[in-house]
Amino acid sequence: MSTVRGAGVVVTGAGGGIGAALARRFAAEGARVVVNDLDADRVKGLADEIGGIVVAGDASGSVDAARDALGGTVDVYCANAGLAAGGDAFADEDVWAAAWDVNVMAHVRAARALLPDWLERGSGRFVSTASAAGLLTMIGAAPYSVTKHGAVAFAEWLSLTYRHRGIKVHAICPQGVRTDMLTAAGTAGDLVLAPTAIEPEAVADALFDAMERDRFLVLPHPEVAGYYQARAKDPDRWIGGMNHLQRTWEANGT
Ligand SMILES: NC(=O)c1ccc[n+]([C@@H]2O[C@H](COP(=O)([O-])OP(=O)(O)OC[C@H]3O[C@@H](n4cnc5c(N)ncnc54)[C@H](O)[C@@H]3O)[C@@H](O)[C@H]2O)c1
Repeated sequence: MSTVRGAGVVVTGAGGGIGAALARRFAAEGARVVVNDLDADRVKGLADEIGGIVVAGDASGSVDAARDALGGTVDVYCANAGLAAGGDAFADEDVWAAAWDVNVMAHVRAARALLPDWLERGSGRFVSTASAAGLLTMIGAAPYSVTKHGAVAFAEWLSLTYRHRGIKVHAICPQGVRTDMLTAAGTAGDLVLAPTAIEPEAVADALFDAMERDRFLVLPHPEVAGYYQARAKDPDRWIGGMNHLQRTWEANGT
């Protein structure tokens, strides 16, 4: 895609899975890519492979160092790092806090660091890797579902607030993607996500398609659009269907 050729791109959580696929795709399209991850070793290997630049550490503190590494300008920021954070209402406070911090506040902090320059220039692209759980809700994963709804809400807020000022925003909302996170999702992931899981490269394809067509929602599983409509049209029917799934999961020993 010609629009990213030469662009300065940051991908957080790029040490594997979806982030690595996004970084590879941006690099293949001619962008200059900063790869961020908590796991410095994993991200170094990727940087060597794609000619990228490493900024290791927590995604939340990565923007200034990434901007410096790119010579002063970030054109595209992919807030991709995420925590799976399963569990129910009784999950530890630490689990809820970590999910909130990484899945939502890291996006807010990045936006704070990026917006002054983007608004002055009248351009910038913010890509949020949320989840279909942020549109629909995932069984067995309350902290994840709540914070991914938060990620979608923040991305939507950014888009509706700054669209007329040249800021483009995309919310990527996949169901299962074959990554370490899916492997760790346990029996709920096996039941709900694994049967229709896709490769991380398909997520990158969907993002590039959405950028081309200027679409906010990125749905690598197109059927999610229908689920989202069904949920909005009849919430009680939708919750009944999801409760059926919950009971199936419980009957299989969770
Ligand atoms: N795999 C799926 O089925 C799926 C589905 C929907 C959405 N997602 C979302 O996609 C994103 C990427 O997940 P993935 O499946 O590629 O997982 P993954 O576990 O393969 O990769 C996540 C990466 O993020 C890094 N990371 C975690 N916390 C970080 C932090 N605070 N700062 C920097 N890096 C951090 C990890 O070290 C890891 O390398 C996540 O936001 C996830 O919620 C995944």
